[in-house]
Amino acid sequence: MESEIRGQVAVLWLAQPPVNALGHEMRLWLQNALTAAEADPGVRAIVLASRLKTFSAGADIREFEAGALPPLLPDLILQIEAGRKPVVAAIDGAALGGGLELALGCRARVLGPKARVGLPEVTLGLLPGAGGTQRLPPLTGLVRALDLIASGKPLDPKAALAAGVADLLAPSEELIEAGSALALRLAAGDALPRPAGIDAAGFEEAAAALMQSRGDDPAIAAIIDCLRAAAHLPLAEGLSREREAFNALRLHPRSKALRYAFFAERGTGGAGRPALPRQIGVIGGGTMGAGIAMAFAAKGFAVTLCETDEAAAGRARARVEESYAHSVARGSLSAAARDAQLAAIRFEGALTGLAAADLIIEAAFEDIAVKEQIFGQIAQIARPDAVLASNTSYLDIDRIAGFASGPERVAGMHFFSPANVMKLVEVVRGPRSSPAAIDLITATARAIGKLPVVVGNCHGFVGNRMLAQRTAQVEALLQEGALPEDLDAAFTAFGGKLGPCAVADLAGLDIGWRNRQATGQTAPVADALVEAGRLGQKTRRGYYRYGADGRRPEPDPEVAALIRDTSARLGITRRAIGQAELTDRLILPMINEGARILEEGIAASASDIDAIWLNGYGFPRWRGGPMFYADERGLAGIVAGLDHYAEQTGNARLRPCALLRGLAATGGRLTDPSRTLSGVTP
Ligand code: CAA
Repeated sequence: MESEIRGQVAVLWLAQPPVNALGHEMRLWLQNALTAAEADPGVRAIVLASRLKTFSAGADIREFEAGALPPLLPDLILQIEAGRKPVVAAIDGAALGGGLELALGCRARVLGPKARVGLPEVTLGLLPGAGGTQRLPPLTGLVRALDLIASGKPLDPKAALAAGVADLLAPSEELIEAGSALALRLAAGDALPRPAGIDAAGFEEAAAALMQSRGDDPAIAAIIDCLRAAAHLPLAEGLSREREAFNALRLHPRSKALRYAFFAERGTGGAGRPALPRQIGVIGGGTMGAGIAMAFAAKGFAVTLCETDEAAAGRARARVEESYAHSVARGSLSAAARDAQLAAIRFEGALTGLAAADLIIEAAFEDIAVKEQIFGQIAQIARPDAVLASNTSYLDIDRIAGFASGPERVAGMHFFSPANVMKLVEVVRGPRSSPAAIDLITATARAIGKLPVVVGNCHGFVGNRMLAQRTAQVEALLQEGALPEDLDAAFTAFGGKLGPCAVADLAGLDIGWRNRQATGQTAPVADALVEAGRLGQKTRRGYYRYGADGRRPEPDPEVAALIRDTSARLGITRRAIGQAELTDRLILPMINEGARILEEGIAASASDIDAIWLNGYGFPRWRGGPMFYADERGLAGIVAGLDHYAEQTGNARLRPCALLRGLAATGGRLTDPSRTLSGVTP
C-alpha cells in the first residue's frame, strides 16, 4: 500500500494481495493515510485506487469468527465521509461487499471497463455491514437496492452507471486522471446530480414477494428491515440498526456454514499453473460428451467431438444444436453467442480428429471393454504429450490407464450432468497419474469456470461412493414403511431442493438397474419399478407419476401398491417411520462413508468432500456440506445414531468407522484444517 501525491491529489493505492480484503492491517493503513492526506496542506482531494486486479473483495471474512479489531470498517467509512477533502473511488476490478461500501462512503465513483460492483454478503448469510443498506438507497432507490443486496449479483460498469452507483465511466488507462479531475472539481465546490430523496415506490410489494420466496433465510428479513430504516431513520440510526443486524447474522449457524463453504471451495487442490490446452478432444457425443463440449466452447476453446461414425456425429451435432436452441429460446444465450459456440465445435465420425488435441476427454459408454478399445485406439492417434482424461463415474482409473500408452498421462475428469451447467469436476488421481496431468486437468477445469476437486481412485470416487449409501437407505426405508413422497419431504425439510426419489426419476431409474444387473445386485423396489416400465421422468412414471408438463411429480397410488406388495413379498411388516429417522438414515450413512473416505486418504480433507456435495449433489449450502453438518451437530450424536440404526436394521455397514468413533471420543472435528492431507491417496 502506498500514498502517491499527484499534484493536488493524494492517490491512496490499495495493494494487499491477493484481493485487497479490508483486514486489520489494511484498515490501519487506510486510517493513517487518510489522516495524513487530510493534514497535508498541498492536497485538495483524495482518490482511492487499487494496484491489484481486484479493487477490494470487502471485509476479511477470516476476521468474522472472533470479531474485528479497531479501526472498524464502518468507522473508517465515516472518516472518509466526514473528511473536508472529497474522496473519489477509482475502480477497475471487483469492488464487493465492504469494498463497495468503502466506495459508497466516497463522494463519487469512477469505473473502468473491468469494474464489477456488488454486495454479495447475502451469499455468506449476511447483509452489508458497513453502511451498504443505508448508502445505496439514496443513489438507487429502495427497490433497486433490495434487488442488488438480496441477489448479491454484481453490476458491470454500464449497469452501475444506470443504477446510480457509478458517476462516471473511463478507460482503464485514464481512470486515475478522470478520478482526480472529478475529485478536484468536487473540492472546488461542484456538486454531482443526486436524487432529491429516497425513492420508495414499489418497495413493500417487492419485499413481500421476496419474503414469500426466501423468507426462510434470516438475512432476507434483516435486509428488508434495514432498507426500510434507510428511508425512515437518520443515517446514524440506520447505520446502528444495520450493525446490530450484521452482528446477529454473523453469529448465526447459517452464516457460519456459508463462510465455511466459501473457503471449502477455494482450496480443493491442483495449485500448479500449467499452460492451458489449445485444442480439446471429446470422445462420445451423448448427453455427457455434448455437455462437456459445450462447456469448453462457452469459454472459447476449440473442441473436436468424435463419434464412432458419421451418423452418430450427426446425432451429436443435433443434440448440441437442440440444447443451444433451448437456451436461445429461454433468453439465456444470444443468437450470436450460439453461432460462435457452435462454430467452435467440430463434429467428426472417427477418432482420427484427435491428432492435434492437447487434452482428450473420453465420455463414452460406461463399460470397461469400451474404455479398453477407445484408450487403445487413442494411443495410435493422440500426440505423445497429450493428456488423456476419462469421464468415468465409477470405473477404476488405473485399469483404464493400463489400456493407454503412457499411463502416467491418464487421469479421471468426472463431470456432473448437465456438464455445461454443473460446477463440480472430480479430478481422479490414479496411482500412475503424473502431477503434470493432474495440474493440467485441474487448471483447465478452472478455466471453464468449474470447481475441480482432486480425489483418489476407488469405486464411485467420493461423490457417488457416498451417494450409494443414501441410495441403499432409500430402498431399505421404502421396504420398511416409507413412501417416496415421505422420503423426499424429509430431505426437502432438511433443506435439499429435490428429494432422492425425485432426483432418481430425473436421472432415469434404468441407470441404476443396469448397474445392478451388471454387478449381480438387487434392489427389490427399484427393480420392480423398472420392470413395470417406470423409468422415471422420461416415461412419465417412476417413483412418481408426472402430469401433462412431464415435470411435476405426483404421488402415485400404483407405486404405493407396488411398494406394499414388495414389502409383503419380502416378509417385512411395514411401520410408520418418523421424519427424524428418515432424515438421519438418508444423511448419517453418507457421513460415515465420507469419514471412511478420509481414513483412506481418498479425499484430502473433509472440506473437499463438502465442496463436492455442495456443487455436484445439491446439498443445502447453508448447512455447509455433510461433513460440516456432522461437526456442527456433534460427532458423538452422529456415532450414537449410526450405532442405533446398525442395531435396528442389522446392517453392519452402518457401524461408525474408526475415525468417527475416535474423533467423537476426543471431541475432535472432521473439518479441523489440521487434518488436511497434502494430497490424495491415488
Ligand atoms: N476475505 C478473506 N479472504 C478472501 C476474501 C475475503 N473477503 N475474498 C477472497 N479471499 C481469498 C480467497 O479465500 C482466496 O484465498 P486462497 O488463495 O488462500 O485460496 C484468495 O482470496 C483469492 O480468492 P479467489 O480465488 O476467489 O480469487 P478470484 O480472483 O477468483 O476472485 C473475488 C476474486 C471476485 C474478489 C472473489 O474472491 C470473491 O468473490 N470474494 C468474496 C467477496 C465477498 O463475498 N465479499 C463480501 C465480504 S463480507 C463483507 O464485506 C461484510 C461487510 O459488509 C463489511
